Amino acid sequence: MPRALIIDGKSIAHRLRLEVAAGVAHLQRARGVVPGLAVVLVGEDPASQVYVRTKMKATRDAGMISLEHKLPAGTPEASLLTLLAELNGRADVHGILVQLPLPSHIDTRRVIEAVDPAKDVDGFHPINIGRLASGACTLAPCTPAGCVILAKSVRSDLTGLEAVVIGRSNIVGKPVAQLLLNENCTVTVAHSRTRDLPSIVRRADLVVAAVGRAEMVRGDWIKPGATVIDVGIQRVPAADGRSRLVGDVAFDEAVDVAGALTPVPGGVGPMTVACLLKNTLRAAWASSQV
Ligand code: GUN
Repeated sequence: MPRALIIDGKSIAHRLRLEVAAGVAHLQRARGVVPGLAVVLVGEDPASQVYVRTKMKATRDAGMISLEHKLPAGTPEASLLTLLAELNGRADVHGILVQLPLPSHIDTRRVIEAVDPAKDVDGFHPINIGRLASGACTLAPCTPAGCVILAKSVRSDLTGLEAVVIGRSNIVGKPVAQLLLNENCTVTVAHSRTRDLPSIVRRADLVVAAVGRAEMVRGDWIKPGATVIDVGIQRVPAADGRSRLVGDVAFDEAVDVAGALTPVPGGVGPMTVACLLKNTLRAAWASSQV
């Protein structure tokens, strides 16, 4: 049986990061501006700490300035909103990212809406979501943007493809559906209440799995030759008593059916960081033009 092309997210992300670094140098030469990204982390969630560290290192590696604001878990919402107002007003800060999830006493929606849409490099502000939904060019959420780049690395024109997105989160499912619609796909968004999910996934030329359930999508759900983008990442116990990272797709089964497939790790994850840098550069260019 032919095995799927393994989509190398690591190397595609590396190339994008080099392009961003070149763009940073160009912006500095042309306008004397060095892009600055402020990352705000509230609390000590271990996974969030790793993500923030990775994002900050990548920012510096691209020649940008990285500012970290680490706040204790008990930080009042009002203090976080005050910090965001200050960052919104700083000319040397072009991008602001508040790492999610936030502690439960903080209203996430209020925080997202407090970020200046022009600095919203996560693309989560309702203004940017609205622009995305209306097909305008905007700061798009990073993981969804990365998924589309990976899909287009297999086939540059996605026009007319049947795309099935599994998951309807605000961070991935909904925005990736909008991006794929903008790429002229016929998009179905499936979720936990969807009836007969396997038969819906079997229709798809392009599957984006973003449910957060380890290896839920089985090989016999995949249409032969389909492109499969796996957004999930979970640590599960391995047979040898250690643990291993898996996605939402049963890789060993899907690899014998799909035409192309992202690995976990090394697929979507590195693209999220690269797209964050791309958005920061874009926000810095836009601010230097006004
Ligand atoms: N937590 C999980 N994914 C993301 C993301 O893309 N951005 C932010 N800010 N937090 C996250």
